[in-house]
Amino acid sequence: MSTGIIGTSIERALEVLGNGGLVAIPTETVYGLAADASNDAAVRRIFATKGRPADHPLIVHLAAAEQLPEWAATIPAAAAVLADSCWPGPLTLLVPKAPQVLPVVTGGRDTVGIRVPAHPMATELLTRFGGGLAAPSANRFGKVSPTTAAHVVADLGNRVDYILDGGACPVGVESTIVDCSVVPAQILRPGAITAEQVSALLHGELAPALGPSRAAGMMASHYAPLATVVLVESSEAGRAAAAADSDAWLLDRSDDLVFYARHLYDDLRAADLRGVSTVVAVLPPPVGLGHAIRDRLTKAAAR
Ligand code: TXA
Ligand code: MG
Repeated sequence: MSTGIIGTSIERALEVLGNGGLVAIPTETVYGLAADASNDAAVRRIFATKGRPADHPLIVHLAAAEQLPEWAATIPAAAAVLADSCWPGPLTLLVPKAPQVLPVVTGGRDTVGIRVPAHPMATELLTRFGGGLAAPSANRFGKVSPTTAAHVVADLGNRVDYILDGGACPVGVESTIVDCSVVPAQILRPGAITAEQVSALLHGELAPALGPSRAAGMMASHYAPLATVVLVESSEAGRAAAAADSDAWLLDRSDDLVFYARHLYDDLRAADLRGVSTVVAVLPPPVGLGHAIRDRLTKAAAR
């Protein structure tokens, strides 16, 4: 066990980041694997540690919306409105990148993804760090995102220099991604800031979302557990499918979508730990947070 690298010391995290190291950080969505976004070598270590292809762009995390002009060449009107209303929060905005943003962060693209997370530990770390932290989810590439420090240990162990333990992530699924570099803006990945909220804030100036989330580098199968995930549209269908297979686990939390999202990845990891062969998952209605849960379950079911 590498539990010695888990702790709650912001000092230690700052020291590691200052030396070009990697720190797993809690956010309200999922844990991120963070490095100094202005340190090319440190950012490269993120890709090596995750086993992630180098052309997949990373999100830059900032302490406050006021820092956006340091990272964006221009701030599109939609980005200004959404940042103002939703940050800090589970929302990533794609904006034209400022010239000094490293190509290794954006995968060579001319846009950069920016987010101001709403987690007290992340906020304290980012505020004291002062710069941007590039951070993808702190899982091995292709696995479900970690929502506890223990998940990070299970995936990355001592390949990460320090893990800031901020408890279980309250949202549980990754941030909503809105591409504000196009007009009208478009949701590339659904999350806890819902399409309905984004559309209302933009007075309906929002392009229709595409099928399963496909931001650059996203694959049809990405959030995959080892178990086979079978999707059904109703509790009745779920019970029938689970009854037909004595080994199957039934995942049916459509009566409480906040709870469903918060525990989704822990449930999928638990199924794998128990060696469950099949998870029968009841899809919530495609409304509000239901979109994000359906999206992640659809990816978990893809092979
Ligand atoms: O909630 C979250 O967003 C978490 C926490 C740690 O902030 N982060 C996260 O990062 O989920 P990641 O790397 O696992 O997913 C970010 C997605 C990737 O699919 C990436 O391709 C896309 O965002 N992305 C980032 N910057 C982009 C850009 N400039 N253009 C297109 N897609 C971008
Ligand atoms: Mg990820």
